[in-house]
Amino acid sequence: MSEIVAIYPGSFDPITNGHLDLIERGSHLFNRLIVAILTNLEKHPLFTVTERVEMLQEATYSIPNVSVDTFSGLLVDYARQKNAKALLRGIRAFTDYEYELQMALMNRKLAPDLETVFLMPALSLTYVSSRLVREVFQLGGSVSGLVPPLVEERLQQKAFQGKP
Ligand code: PNS
Repeated sequence: MSEIVAIYPGSFDPITNGHLDLIERGSHLFNRLIVAILTNLEKHPLFTVTERVEMLQEATYSIPNVSVDTFSGLLVDYARQKNAKALLRGIRAFTDYEYELQMALMNRKLAPDLETVFLMPALSLTYVSSRLVREVFQLGGSVSGLVPPLVEERLQQKAFQGKP
């Protein structure tokens, strides 16, 4: 049987423990999982694409079938280029569902042979999002336990440089 490649796309600004949990779960389901960072999502991300690639690579280095890449343009075009059969997305709560359903159905319209697979993160991480991590950190709150320690360090460095 041919190997099954899946893409886990997102902005990952920054990677959270919720993302990491999903990557671990996905790595058990697919032969290869490519974590793909969209390069043109936001005009003013907290972390540059290079920083996000570095953090994702560090956080996933112990999972051999996971790699990190970047993409721009349509996700389905990138997935075709990588011979992927599946897109992986996380659903934390009911509120994620509508947005995710719309994206999954649009992607299916564009590429009917590509399946979107939804996984749920650990229950204890269902409230964690990159947006809230950025907000809590920028307002001086602790993000300990919400992001990998290496991300916490990078956040501290940004604060030290006066750019949180
Ligand atoms: O982490 P995010 O911000 O929820 O990820 C959103 C992402 C990157 C998966 C989505 O914006 C995307 O796939 N963008 C690529 C452009 C595209 O293909 N759009 C049409 C599909 S709905």
